[in-house]
Amino acid sequence: MRELALNILDIAENSLRAGASLVQIRLCADFLKDEMTIAVEDNGCGMSKEMAASVTDPFTTTRTTRKVGMGVPLFKYSAESAGGTFRIRSEEGKGTCVTATYRIGHVDRMPLGDFGGVVLQLVTMNPQTDFLVTVQSGGQTGVLDTREIREILGEDIPLGAPEVRAFLKEYISENLVSIYGGRL
Ligand SMILES: Nc1ncnc2c1ncn2[C@@H]1O[C@H](COP(=O)(O)OP(=O)(O)O)[C@@H](O)[C@H]1O
Ligand SMILES: [Mg+2]
Repeated sequence: MRELALNILDIAENSLRAGASLVQIRLCADFLKDEMTIAVEDNGCGMSKEMAASVTDPFTTTRTTRKVGMGVPLFKYSAESAGGTFRIRSEEGKGTCVTATYRIGHVDRMPLGDFGGVVLQLVTMNPQTDFLVTVQSGGQTGVLDTREIREILGEDIPLGAPEVRAFLKEYISENLVSIYGGRL
């Protein structure tokens, strides 16, 4: 995995698998401090203390299809190999928050990659889940809240409908991606 966006997708997919009805994704870049923070928070089933403590070990998984889970370990690695930190907070029955920080200019920091594409995919392919995506940099903030968009569209028009998808794609590139524009 050479793009942080794919790490984010993997972490968000854990939230979906945990049955979250709301997934919050935050991307915050401070170019003056040379620091970037990525956080994924959900209101899914959460984890026990033991599980949360061992989840950064690749051999921890509740999947039955394979024995190795790499989503969390790779995300942790991406941060720690770029002079950053990694933290996972989880409460059983309440939800989970995964936070990674990075030195933006660190030689080993992976590029962010197609973050907009990942957001578009998550938002349009998961009708049961709401997403609150916030991007912040240099005093600018961009927000995508699917609860607001669903409210406007009404129940009959899914976010994956072609016209809506086209609108969302435009919205994401203008309001989220333009804020850090190519610099990450
Ligand atoms: N947001 C989450 N909510 C609840 N459990 C989680 C969450 N993220 C990870 N887990 C637990 O940690 C395990 C390991 O996750 P991960 O490293 O992504 O590997 P995988 O998803 O392949 O199992 C998952 O199988 C799941 O049991
Ligand atoms: Mg996973």
